[in-house]
Amino acid sequence: MKMSRIRTALLLLFAFTFVQTSGALGQSSAAAATPEPDQIRLTWTGDPATTMTITWRTDATVASGLVQYQEGNSINSNAREMQARAQDFKTDLGTTRLFSATLAGLSPNTRFSYRVGDGKRWSGILSFKTADPDAKTFKFLVFGDSQSPVTGGDPYGEWRETVQNAYKANPDASFFVNVGDLVDFGQIGAHWDAWFAAVKGVIDAIPAMPLPGNHESYGSRDTWKPEFFTAQFVLPRNGPVGLKEQAYSYDFGPVHFVVLDSQAEEQRRYGDILSIQQSWLESDLTTSRKEWKIAFFHRAPYGVKPDRDEKEVRNAFCPILERNRVGLVFTAHDHGIKRTFPIKNGVAVKDPSEGTIYYVTGRSGSKTYDDIEEKELSAFFHAPFDQPNYFVVEGTDTKITVKTVLRDGAVIDTLTLDKPKANTFMGAPVQF
Ligand SMILES: [Fe+2]
Repeated sequence: MKMSRIRTALLLLFAFTFVQTSGALGQSSAAAATPEPDQIRLTWTGDPATTMTITWRTDATVASGLVQYQEGNSINSNAREMQARAQDFKTDLGTTRLFSATLAGLSPNTRFSYRVGDGKRWSGILSFKTADPDAKTFKFLVFGDSQSPVTGGDPYGEWRETVQNAYKANPDASFFVNVGDLVDFGQIGAHWDAWFAAVKGVIDAIPAMPLPGNHESYGSRDTWKPEFFTAQFVLPRNGPVGLKEQAYSYDFGPVHFVVLDSQAEEQRRYGDILSIQQSWLESDLTTSRKEWKIAFFHRAPYGVKPDRDEKEVRNAFCPILERNRVGLVFTAHDHGIKRTFPIKNGVAVKDPSEGTIYYVTGRSGSKTYDDIEEKELSAFFHAPFDQPNYFVVEGTDTKITVKTVLRDGAVIDTLTLDKPKANTFMGAPVQF
């Protein structure tokens, strides 16, 4: 009963805000779909060394989609061609068409040029690089909530500047992760149009491996699955039944990555999604033989909002993550930056190899909370009121460095983990 009243209240709020939101975004953001391909995005659904998944949008008049691709810096008569599958995508703005193709059998560690279209109308020539399967190094970017409540003008401008700055400063990053709440209204088309416009030039050059937050469930309709998210991002389908592309795992270099959906509250009508993921998570982690394991989910078990305690998520996921030696967990939702001490069973442990370090990833969009505070088990805390932030994670099979970076490039925290035994913290002093 209580949950039903909350949902009704939220729906009314969203419906009211939707009217304001649509208007403001319509003035400032991306154009509507046309026969020309746009919103070109890369993801991985297979081996990063030999595959690449390319997805794009047109209006509903375009009948077929093709990818042309070849090694090197140009597309010519030697280009290979692959047919894309088409799917109609219905939003409050009308029906568009999403095309997606997964290129396979690619040469590892190789730059490919590509373009997408229908055979007559083509995108510009873009490029990506396949991973080196023998490389022991890796580098990727992490972004906290990019959601941007509309205040007029250029609502996703903060996100645009953050992601563009991050990629410009780290052109050797192999992919990027958004830790949920990419947009403020996940089932309203204009928000996604603005989000994709902001990330153009990055998401068509390196893959995005995002995950849904609570706001991906919000919109003007009473749907509480992140349907627009899963429609628009083609992701690994190795997650639990009923949560495909909302929870998944993949490998890159010496790291096993696992992505979880922490939105039990929004998806309660579909069952207990936390317990659905528990056995899958345990099995996924015990199967992996990678040197490092890193997890992502949206709600923070060790957050910075005084009025929040994600006990349900903490109890469901943390014991499994800690038992299976997941070294790093990136969470979001609270719009503050926090790095915990290594934690095992709710208490700090001295040696990072014995526990899990949890990050709250701040914000990459415009939304801030003015009541955030350090709270428990904190080794580093920062309130990103003045500017958004991002994270640069890089390493080898024996070392990981996580840099917390403000949009202007200032590094405000650095964590270094060494394997297998010696672990050294740099930056904020470790005190127990
Ligand atoms: Fe959130």
